[in-house]
Amino acid sequence: AEGDPARGKAVFQRTCENCHAAVIGVNKVGPSLWNVIDRKPAIVPDFAYSDAMKANKQAWTPTTLDAYLADPRGDVHGVKMFFKGLPNPADRANVIAYLQTLR
Ligand code: HEM
Repeated sequence: AEGDPARGKAVFQRTCENCHAAVIGVNKVGPSLWNVIDRKPAIVPDFAYSDAMKANKQAWTPTTLDAYLADPRGDVHGVKMFFKGLPNPADRANVIAYLQTLR
């Protein structure tokens, strides 16, 4: 289903923004998510990724993001994103629609 970017922005601000900035060049506990759609994993400069994320070869598409955000640590074994994920599929679709606006 198509996500709603406005609703996704609210999800982002409530959950992701504790650890991720939506702007270029700002890393927090997690890397900047500016322009993350279609980006290869683990390429943000000056961010210390886990070996698991560096070994992840799948670009961040709506499909791969949906699987990751449903269960981050189950999807990429050994990832250091200590976040339980978004169990609600609508929350995932909405936040992915919002991430698509960050470019
Ligand atoms: C990595 C998305 C919530 C901490 C990532 C990556 C994405 C992502 C796409 C991979 C980035 C890349 O390859 O450059 C999200 C979204 C979230 C969320 C959409 C909210 C729904 C969180 C939270 C935390 C966190 C709440 C902290 C508690 C991290 C860390 C990494 C990461 C530390 C690097 C993982 C590693 O190198 O193993 N996140 N994240 N994230 N995230 Fe999140």
